[in-house]
Amino acid sequence: MATERTLSIIKPDATKRNLTGKVVAKFEEAGLRVVASKRIQLSTAQAGEFYAEHKERPFYAELVSFMVSEPVVVQVLEGEGAIAKNREVMGATDPAQAADGTIRKEFALSKGENSVHGSDSPEAAAREIAFFFSGLELVG
Ligand code: CMP
Repeated sequence: MATERTLSIIKPDATKRNLTGKVVAKFEEAGLRVVASKRIQLSTAQAGEFYAEHKERPFYAELVSFMVSEPVVVQVLEGEGAIAKNREVMGATDPAQAADGTIRKEFALSKGENSVHGSDSPEAAAREIAFFFSGLELVG
């Protein structure tokens, strides 16, 4: 399997509860390497643009206001099959459906406050990484 890069966001519910290190440990234990990382405060415009594909969904406004409610940690994870592996480590969107040992099973509060975001395809990963990082900031 090819080495890939994917975008991860540690969401406000997790940063607020001081869980950043525990979440990163899950990625590292799964063999994913953090090749870029920064803690930022998203603006409403930035969060709205990042989640533009969900604009028509009933939860869009709630999603955007949640994502700006506290700082987030945006990261680029690298590894073999990193896009699928990250999604496996995160677990299902709804923590009630997430498998044991996953980040969302252990830490998420609800479908919305679900602790992490991960790119869902190679195209999304390329777009989402470029949204937050310049090439110079990726140091594998
Ligand atoms: P994420 O992987 O960041 O991509 C879109 C997000 O929308 C998703 O994780 C959830 O946090 C959020 N989401 C999906 N369904 C719902 C829902 N029913 N209510 C609130 N937020 C949701």
